[in-house]
Amino acid sequence: MAVEERDPVTGRETTGHEWNGIKELDTPVPRGVLIFLVVTHIWAVAWWFFAPTWPLGSTYTKGLLGIDQRTTVEENLVRAQQARSVWTTRLETEPYETILADQQLMGIVRSTGHQLFGDNCAACHGVDGSGRAGYPDLTDDDWIWGGEPEAIEQTMRVGINTRHPDSRIGQMPAFGRDGILEREHVSNVASYVYSLSNPEYSTPENRERIEAGRTVFADNCAACHGDDATGNREVGAPNLADNRWVYGGDLQTIINSVHGGREGHMPTWDERLSNLDIRTLSLYVYDLGIVGR
Ligand code: HEC
Ligand code: HEC
Repeated sequence: MAVEERDPVTGRETTGHEWNGIKELDTPVPRGVLIFLVVTHIWAVAWWFFAPTWPLGSTYTKGLLGIDQRTTVEENLVRAQQARSVWTTRLETEPYETILADQQLMGIVRSTGHQLFGDNCAACHGVDGSGRAGYPDLTDDDWIWGGEPEAIEQTMRVGINTRHPDSRIGQMPAFGRDGILEREHVSNVASYVYSLSNPEYSTPENRERIEAGRTVFADNCAACHGDDATGNREVGAPNLADNRWVYGGDLQTIINSVHGGREGHMPTWDERLSNLDIRTLSLYVYDLGIVGR
């Protein structure tokens, strides 16, 4: 083994080993790396004593600091629950009026309500609650069954046209299909209803048919929808004069509603959602209605 042989090109010492005529320069580990290695080894050994480290079959070395991730998580959970229970209790017990006046609490209602709504209601009413044909818009402050939080809560609890003993029942008879009205009467009354929110439709050539429809309406529809067609929440008959529609407000869709009848189904939530969730959603939906006001 040749000692202190220098490489003629770099002037550095070689290791003295030779492999197939190639010699290796003797490059020591940089000091920084060496220090790093020493420090991390000391740190590791120290850590063995302080923190839980070595598995010993069914148990493990616990360490002097008593660190335990499980207790930490449990403590955090208890703390979060305590923080949460302050507002969950308020949401469950305080009158709606009080909660609505509390902007901080309403902030919580909006964020947790949005989540709940997305999980349970959005499939039918849309992510933003604006509905689609057959599923009412919950943001427009036009309510079939009532838009106060108490009314919304009741709608959610018993559902609409469900088997719940207290279910809200709203049935629009199939005037055409069941032969209650002749085809011409169906068409006339639909024209009348259409003209209520489309005044430009009342042209001289349509006037006769609209007037005929007005009579049909008074005789057959006013009992549920009201003399002025503004609806009746007792029987879930929607306002027909405000140009806001569940099924659609074009002439043909109105004819379809009158011909075939309508019976929307809204599930009950009494057993599927907790009291807290139902109250949160009632406030959330009420709040959506205010935004649309
Ligand atoms: C399976 C579809 C469906 C789901 C899911 C659903 N709804 Fe409904 N909802 C309806 C239908 C259909 C109506 C209208 C029924 C009618 O024609 O009277 C309705 C009506 C309502 C009304 C009454 C609106 C008014 O104008 O009075 C409220 C309030 C309401 N839903 C809230 C909710 C909430 C909150 C959820 C989520 C917990 C939800 N809905 C989930 C189908 C659904
Ligand atoms: C027994 C009560 C009752 C009578 C009578 C009645 N309706 Fe209805 N009508 C309802 C109910 C309830 C609904 C809502 C059904 C639903 O949403 O599922 C409705 C819905 C409608 C709709 C759909 C509204 C929309 O937003 O899309 C139209 C249109 C309508 N009725 C027109 C009439 C006309 C015209 C007559 C008379 C020929 C009439 N109704 C008679 C109860 C009635």
